[in-house]
Amino acid sequence: MATYRIRHCERLGGEVNLHTAKNAVLPILCAGLLTREPLTVERVPMLTDVDTLTEILTDCGVEISRNRDEVTLWSDDPRSPSSENLLSRMRASVLVMGPLLARTGYARVGLPGGCAIGQRPIDLHIKGMQALGAEAQYTPGSVTLQGELHGGSIYLDFPSVGATENIILAAVLAKGSTRIENAAKEPEIVDLCACLSDMGARISGSGTGTIFIEGQPALHGCTYRPIPDRIEAGTILCAAAMTEGSVLLRGIRPEHMRAVLYKLSETGVTLRESGAGLRLSGRASQPVQVRTLAYPGFPTDMQAPMMALALRLRGTSVFLETIFENRFMHAREMTRMGALIRIEDRIALITGGHALAGTTVTSPDLRGGAALMLAGLAAEGETTLLDPAGHISRGYENLPAMLRELGAEVWEEEQPENVRG
Ligand code: UD1
Repeated sequence: MATYRIRHCERLGGEVNLHTAKNAVLPILCAGLLTREPLTVERVPMLTDVDTLTEILTDCGVEISRNRDEVTLWSDDPRSPSSENLLSRMRASVLVMGPLLARTGYARVGLPGGCAIGQRPIDLHIKGMQALGAEAQYTPGSVTLQGELHGGSIYLDFPSVGATENIILAAVLAKGSTRIENAAKEPEIVDLCACLSDMGARISGSGTGTIFIEGQPALHGCTYRPIPDRIEAGTILCAAAMTEGSVLLRGIRPEHMRAVLYKLSETGVTLRESGAGLRLSGRASQPVQVRTLAYPGFPTDMQAPMMALALRLRGTSVFLETIFENRFMHAREMTRMGALIRIEDRIALITGGHALAGTTVTSPDLRGGAALMLAGLAAEGETTLLDPAGHISRGYENLPAMLRELGAEVWEEEQPENVRG
């Protein structure tokens, strides 16, 4: 049970360094299952999702050592995980399926969990494995896949990030060539492919809708540093824009987040890119219209933090969520702070620009929790943010400390020994 206290903040200012992207690190750690040789991943962030995945990989027989922010994996004799409980804690755990199947011809995985932001089926992952020659058998709570993999042609009905990654992770060791159509184009996909290429995989077309993979008999180890976190970057930029701040983000890759940067400039803030990073300054005042889409569209993970910013923008902002069907849960908590929000199915209308009051709110999911922390900066007085499921630390490495570096007053309350879980 995490509890955060947030005080009203007039202005954020200063510089902050970004962490490595959670959504790049998780699939790259799973790539460790593909080789007998060591895979070392650098600058791995301190996140509970990373801890959960390393527990799952250990359960898969992978030896893992962590030296500060460097993680090394040895996967001599991998096997399917035995604990379904671990898998149900985190959706990205389904990414062990592709590499296990490719390496051993067998994968039994529990059906995954994660944030309750929608139904989040894994039909496209399974469809991909079947196109590579696997047979799938369902039992309550789990699915078993087996077969020697060969190359295949796969069309994804939706450019799912996880399904694209899982199929790539399987196809790199399948016999022959694979083609994925309507593949996801997210920077994290490109990063996974760059790491796999360093391991000896042959992949072309990553970052486009058609990816080709020429399967190899074996991959080797490598040392890899994943990309910075574009969602953490966007969250901090929204916080800066809400408080009329002047903030320099170091280590940012602006080319990974153009849609977010365009939307931020539409609010009236100034963004300046330089060798040092990206600086946001000025006043956000104009309302925005946001439609979440697959990359390069506006990321669904930035919808909640952007909504927190919309609470400060005079006029009506409109949000259309097209990726997940249940991703406005933070809005209800924001209304408890005095926000004027109307939800109609997948559309949220936010009438912003009026005062918010600090109160006690509850984090509904990872990005929604971060957005409530930002809303707390704008609210008068003090906000208590309860995060009983520990959502925020799943995906942000010490967000309160990053905000404090910029002058905010945000703390995580110490838990008494007997309630630590
Ligand atoms: C990844 C990200 C998550 C982000 C999401 C969308 C990681 C670890 N997580 O999640 O932060 O919010 O991309 O950018 O990288 N779908 C199906 N069938 C499938 C798979 C997906 O219908 O087999 C649907 C989902 O229900 C959802 C949509 O496709 O509506 C997008 O899901 P997907 O792109 O797969 O997201 P994740 O990989 O789970």
